[in-house]
Amino acid sequence: MTARKIIIDTDPGQDDAIAILLALASPAEIEVLGLTCVAGNVPLALTSKNARIVCELAGRPEVKVFAGAEHPLVRNLRTAEHVHGATGLNGPKLPDPEMPLQDQHAVDFIIETLRREPAGTVTLCPLGPLTNIAMAFRKAPDIIDRVQEIVLMGGAYFEVGNITPAAEFNIYVDPHAADVVFRAGVPLVVMSLDVTHKAMVTPERNEAFRALGNRVGIAVAEMTDFFQSFDLEKYGSPGAPLHDPCVTAYLIRPDLFTGRHINVEIEIASELTMGMTVADWWGVSGRAPNALFMGTIDDEGYFALLRERLALL
Ligand code: BDR
Ligand code: CA
Repeated sequence: MTARKIIIDTDPGQDDAIAILLALASPAEIEVLGLTCVAGNVPLALTSKNARIVCELAGRPEVKVFAGAEHPLVRNLRTAEHVHGATGLNGPKLPDPEMPLQDQHAVDFIIETLRREPAGTVTLCPLGPLTNIAMAFRKAPDIIDRVQEIVLMGGAYFEVGNITPAAEFNIYVDPHAADVVFRAGVPLVVMSLDVTHKAMVTPERNEAFRALGNRVGIAVAEMTDFFQSFDLEKYGSPGAPLHDPCVTAYLIRPDLFTGRHINVEIEIASELTMGMTVADWWGVSGRAPNALFMGTIDDEGYFALLRERLALL
């Protein structure tokens, strides 16, 4: 099996960090061509710094990291320091990065890579707002048909919303970008809150990360210690949903997930339900399916995979 070439588009974020670590720990299945950063959980200057901190934590300072969009296509940026802390990566004490940020804009890197690599061989893995991906598709529509697949974290159907009663954070922050991406015609795999809210880091699971004993395992446990305090207060259950690693886990073990191939459209007109993923789970709309919308996860298998791979770093 040859490793799948991917670009991770990200706004780290502790759960983004763990998704990146899982990818970097899995070279047999995943070749990371680059990390493209976007404003989301925290502003761009921090997400593009945090991405490099994570690469260095993984011992991979040669990975190319690019800065992209500073704000959504249309709306003002909404960030999530209340979940992720002032730096976006609160929890472990990690050194400032020494590796450089690439000069090229993230959007141009996405375009250049898709034009350079054989068509159908590069997968995009967005873990934050979809601004960079939409900008690339608008600037260079010729790349759309060249994308193998987009595997993203975002949206919800049964869980509805986490940042508003109707919308999940990544889609809500840039609904216009999400609309471009969901209408593009690229095969989409959507890791929604319906899945990620079943991927809970219980205290036992977090202690198992810490017990890995390596720098990465301890840092991951400290990241989770930080953001789960927010979720404990919000959802009342110990542990927090570990959203973004569902994307990279899917590339390694797609069998851990099940979903339905359905139509998903993005609400961009109503302020009340802005960014809602209108997912036709029950097939009532007659609209053509455009996404494999995930609903279940083998959570024991997911955490076993994370432990196995993070131990390798
Ligand atoms: C998503 O929002 C962010 O806060 C997380 O990193 C994740 O990508 C969950 O709604
Ligand atoms: Ca994220």
